[in-house]
Amino acid sequence: MVFKAALFLAPLSGYTSWPMRMLCREQGAELCYTEMISAAGLLRKAGSARAILKRPEGDRPLIAQIFTSSASEAAQAARVLEDEGFDGIDINMGCPVKKVVGKGAGVALMTDPAKALSLVEAVVRSVDLPVSVKLRAGWDASSMNACECASLFEAVGIDTVVLHPRTRTDMYRGTPRWGELERLARTVKIPVVASGDIRGVEDVERARSLGARAFMVGRGAIGNPWIFRQLLGGGPPSLEEREDVMIRHLDALCSLHGSRLGVLHMRKFLSPYVKGVQGAARFRAQACTIDNPKALEAAVRDFFASQTGKAP
Ligand SMILES: Cc1cc2nc3c(=O)[nH]c(=O)nc-3n(C[C@H](O)[C@H](O)[C@H](O)COP(=O)(O)O)c2cc1C
Repeated sequence: MVFKAALFLAPLSGYTSWPMRMLCREQGAELCYTEMISAAGLLRKAGSARAILKRPEGDRPLIAQIFTSSASEAAQAARVLEDEGFDGIDINMGCPVKKVVGKGAGVALMTDPAKALSLVEAVVRSVDLPVSVKLRAGWDASSMNACECASLFEAVGIDTVVLHPRTRTDMYRGTPRWGELERLARTVKIPVVASGDIRGVEDVERARSLGARAFMVGRGAIGNPWIFRQLLGGGPPSLEEREDVMIRHLDALCSLHGSRLGVLHMRKFLSPYVKGVQGAARFRAQACTIDNPKALEAAVRDFFASQTGKAP
């Protein structure tokens, strides 16, 4: 794939379902990832894993991300995803949460590079799609082995490596270990994608200067799809744009999950969407108690009308 600015939307479990992806694409995200999909869940056709596959036609290019600790499960899941029409497979080796690492998946795979390698090789062999791996810097500060892992995976044919340069112990705290990104970019020939604290043009430029060829935005895009436009030199959203996008996001979440769950999912986005707008805290406190889409839409319209002085 060839990209212009190479600004990607990161996989964010619980957030980056198709509604958020489509809104970010409108603002300049060139490549998106699904939320992480349990390979085991996908193979036993669990509703939660299948739900992540849902997407409209325009939601491309789209990489499906899987997590598992089993090579055979990974290979079978990758084949299912290839048949489903995804544009690439990413293997999650960065997730730090107990539920995932407790089963030997996510960043736990980095503690056993030989096992991780056989899993990656099984996926590469099982599909014709491009395969990438999303790594952390390592398990902890004394075992940072992203370069070692990426070199092994490059040798068996992955196309890209994504690095969130924090360790499992770091979780999401502190400054990313940018030195690890630089070391990785010097170590492998395949493109390195930087993930971690990319919020402004200066962050993209730093990652570029360290050798990254593409840039992933995660938390910075929650309730703020305009971050992509701003990274491309555009301006911040107007109040009208915020209102319009919030209503469209709510509609899309309700069409994906049904009204009740759609509203619950939307609650996670309310605060970031109105951040910095006068009266945001009061709006959020009130809006979080609403459980039907019509009433939530009315609350959003009232809130923005009170900003502009116009009738809703
Ligand atoms: C709520 C949340 C969910 C995440 N889910 C995933 C996931 O499903 N797969 C993955 O590889 N990384 C996941 N991540 C990590 C992000 O993709 C990203 O690497 C990390 O948040 C650092 O980038 P950021 O500072 O731009 O958010 C998640 C992070 C957060 C905060």
